[in-house]
Amino acid sequence: MGPLRGAQRSVIFHSRLAFRSSFQRMTLPLVASRLASSVAPKLKDPSLLKTGVCYVDGEWVKAASGKTFNVYDPATGALIGASPEFTGKDTEKAISAAAAAFPSFRTKTGREKAKLLRRWYDLVVENADDLAKLITWENGKPFADAKGEVNYAASFFEWFSEEAPRLYGDSIPATVPGNRVLTIKQPVGVCGLITPWNFPAAMVTRKLGPALAAGCTVVVKTPGEAPFTALALAELAHRAGIPKGVVNFVTTLEHTPEVGETLATHPTVRKVSFTGSTVVGRLLMKQASPTLKILSMELGGNAPFIVFDDANVDAAVAGAVASKFRSSGQTCVCANRIYVQKGIYDEFAAKFAEQVKRFKVGHGFDEGITHGPLIHNRAISKVEAHVRDAEQKGAKIILGGQKLPDLGANFFQPTVITGMTKDMAMAGEETFGPVAGLFPFTTEKEVVDLANSAEVGLAGYFFSQDLERITRVAEALEVGMVGVNTGIISDTASPFGGVKQSGFGREGSKYGIDEYVNIKTITLGGMNKPLQS
Ligand code: SIN
Repeated sequence: MGPLRGAQRSVIFHSRLAFRSSFQRMTLPLVASRLASSVAPKLKDPSLLKTGVCYVDGEWVKAASGKTFNVYDPATGALIGASPEFTGKDTEKAISAAAAAFPSFRTKTGREKAKLLRRWYDLVVENADDLAKLITWENGKPFADAKGEVNYAASFFEWFSEEAPRLYGDSIPATVPGNRVLTIKQPVGVCGLITPWNFPAAMVTRKLGPALAAGCTVVVKTPGEAPFTALALAELAHRAGIPKGVVNFVTTLEHTPEVGETLATHPTVRKVSFTGSTVVGRLLMKQASPTLKILSMELGGNAPFIVFDDANVDAAVAGAVASKFRSSGQTCVCANRIYVQKGIYDEFAAKFAEQVKRFKVGHGFDEGITHGPLIHNRAISKVEAHVRDAEQKGAKIILGGQKLPDLGANFFQPTVITGMTKDMAMAGEETFGPVAGLFPFTTEKEVVDLANSAEVGLAGYFFSQDLERITRVAEALEVGMVGVNTGIISDTASPFGGVKQSGFGREGSKYGIDEYVNIKTITLGGMNKPLQS
C-alpha cells in the first residue's frame, strides 16, 4: 500500500479513535432540543469539567490556533462543551514537555512513584461520582456502569502503585569465567498513549499506571468523542502532585490522524500504546517503523462465544447477555459470534431473548436504565447494516432489529437474531453494538475451526461442564484471553491483550509494566581474582 493521503488517513481514523461525522453533527442537535436541558449533570466539584483547555507541562492550555471542537452527549445530542483542537505542532510541545520531565522523573525511587500513583488513586476514588457523571455524559453508558468503570480505572493506579517498588532485575550466573551478569529495568522514555472513547477513564489509567510506575513520562491522546473524563483525570494528577511535564493530555478531533502520526513518528517518543481498531493499529505501526518504536496494540475483537450441549444453559445465557451487551456491545471483548450447539439451540435462544427483553434502554442518567445509546451515528449505521445483511441472507430477528428514534438518534433496540450463518457480515466483522447473532453448530471441531477462522483473536468464551473439553477447547482457541463459564474476563490482575490481528502486548497484571521498561544487561568482568592478602 502506498503512502496514505490525508483524506484516506482521516477515514481510517474514523473507527474507534475517530470523530463524529458531519452527518451526525447535523442530526444530533435536532434531538437535543427535545431532551437536552434535563440531562446536564451537576458535579460536586464543577472545576473537574475542563472546557476549552487541555493539559501540557503542568498547565491548562489552548491550541495555538485558538480553535476548539465541540463534544456532544450521545444520548441527546446536546452540547457538553468544547476542547482545544490540537495539531501535530501543538502535540510536539507536549512531547517536549514530557522529554524535559523525563531525566528527573526516571530517577525517582519505586517508593516515590508508588506514593504519587497512590495519591492519584485516592483522588480518583474520592471523586468517583463526578468522574462517573462525566463518563455517562460523554460516552452514554448507564451511570451504574460508569461507576463500575471508575472503580476499574482506579484499580490500575492502585495495582501499579504496588508494582512500582518491585521492579526487580536479575543476578545471572555467567558462562564466561570471571564475569558477573546483572540486569536492571529502566523506563523506555517518553510514551504516546492513544486512548479510545469506549472506556474514557479505564483505558487511560490502564496505560498511565504502568508507564508512571516504570518511570516513563507520557503524552495521552484523549478520544475526540469523550475527552472530558481524561481531562478530569489530568486535573487530579495535578492535585496529586505529579510533577509538571510527566503527564500531558492533548485533545483533538479533526486533527486526530495528524496527532496520531506525530506521536508515532516523532523521534523523541520511544513507545506508543494504542487501543483502537486494527485498521488504525496497522497504520500507526507503519508510521512508527522508521524510528523503531516499541509498540503495544490492543486492537479489534470479534469474540466467539460457544455454548456446548453439556453447558449449564441458564449460566450460559447469563454469561452471554453480560458479554454481548456490556456497554451496549461497545467493548472490544464483547461476544460477537454466539455459537450454540444444536441440542440446546432453541432452549438457549428462547431464554436469551427473554433476558434481553427485560433491558431498559434510555439516557444513562435516568433511573433503572440498563443500556444507553451508541456513541454516534456511524455506529448506528454499522449495526443496522449488520442486521439488514443477516435478515436478507435468511436469518430471523426474534427481538428488536430497529432504531429507536423516539429516544434519540443514537439508540438501537437490543436485538437477537437466530439462524445465523458464516456468510453473514456479523460472522466476519465486529458489530460493536447491541446485536446478538446466534449461530448453530454440530461438533466441537467444527466450532473451534469457525471460531479460529477470524483474522483477529482478542477474547473468546465458552460454556461447558466437561473438564477434558474445557482444557482442549481453551488451549485450541486462537485468542489472547479465554473465559470459561463466564462472560466477563476483565480484571486488573489479569493480563489483557490479543493475538493475531488483535495486536500484541499485555496490559494490567504483573506483565503490564514490562511494556514500559527496557532490560539493561550489566556485565562485570575480572571478578575471579583471588582474595587479596
Ligand atoms: C476494551 O474494550 O478495549 C477494553 C474492555 C475491558 O477492559 O474490559
